[in-house]
Amino acid sequence: MNIGNLNIDGNLFSAPLAGISDSVFRTLCREYGASATVSEMVSAQGLKFSDKKTRKYLFFTDKERPIGIQLFGPDPDSALRGLEKALEVNPDFIDFNLGCPVRKVIKQGSGAALLQNPELAAEIIKTMVKNSPIPVTAKMRSGWDSSSIVFPELSLRLQDVGVSAIFIHPRTVAQGFCGEADRGLVCRTKPKLKVPVIYSGDIRSPGDAGDVVEHTGSDGIMIGRAAMGDPSIFHRVRQFFETGEIIPAPTPPEKIDMLLDHHARVKDRYGDDFTVKYMRKFIVWYTHQLPRKSELRRELFNLSDCGEVITRLKEYRSSLAS
Ligand SMILES: Cc1cc2nc3c(=O)[nH]c(=O)nc-3n(C[C@H](O)[C@H](O)[C@H](O)COP(=O)(O)O)c2cc1C
Repeated sequence: MNIGNLNIDGNLFSAPLAGISDSVFRTLCREYGASATVSEMVSAQGLKFSDKKTRKYLFFTDKERPIGIQLFGPDPDSALRGLEKALEVNPDFIDFNLGCPVRKVIKQGSGAALLQNPELAAEIIKTMVKNSPIPVTAKMRSGWDSSSIVFPELSLRLQDVGVSAIFIHPRTVAQGFCGEADRGLVCRTKPKLKVPVIYSGDIRSPGDAGDVVEHTGSDGIMIGRAAMGDPSIFHRVRQFFETGEIIPAPTPPEKIDMLLDHHARVKDRYGDDFTVKYMRKFIVWYTHQLPRKSELRRELFNLSDCGEVITRLKEYRSSLAS
């Protein structure tokens, strides 16, 4: 598919996931078959003020390409300053966040707060498009609540000011992650748009991915939570889209192998101390539905050394195989 002048081999995107979709995670998603990746959201204001920690979020390697850097900010000026900094690392596209429901982000007028001010949202995107040599995309929720659904109107506005694609998670801010995502809304809006629409929300299997495309007409799909403990979902969805074949989900020993691989890559990138704590959330996700998972997690969380964690995981893997 094309996003502006950027050609992407396939239509599967790994979702921006704050605190999760770092360079290592994105590389895994891409290796398993994601067609493109998106960074976790990066504060345009933090970049504007050259905050060192914020700049770290811009790190990526060529293995993650095509990659979009996702920015968030409250106004055209911060967005523009953030854009200039983000362009320095040479990403393939820039995405702008119009959907983050986190209180701290909304309080500063960013993320989903902009759904309540479509004019300002369009002004921000217009400024970014005007000043960006690479495509600018937007990722949004459907609206603030069920009485203020803005996706149909706002997506057209953004298209008018030059956005190259729209990622839509069709839940309102009020819904959080609960209730039904509104596929019908995407289905009704999609024919009115010329730019690609990429659907995000609750895609957990090749079947879900196929259903979403069939029932919404979306040009692509984005996967977030289902990849957190199983990045190989991209392989299964890609295989299904390309051949119709349904590949079985990884077996428990395969899950542990994937976890060990993820662990080793994080250790290489960040070192031992960081890895032991950082990997705990991934341990929970990778071991979801595995036998004796509570006992295993309890043991692993008591360890403070990467070598011990690896040894225990290998022992557990052997116990599964036997
Ligand atoms: C822990 C977490 C962090 C997220 N961080 C971001 C983010 O930084 N930017 C963004 O646009 N969406 C973010 N999202 C939303 C996801 O990108 C995605 O749209 C949503 O989770 C629905 O897709 P899923 O059901 O495949 O996870 C986040 C979601 C979760 C659960």
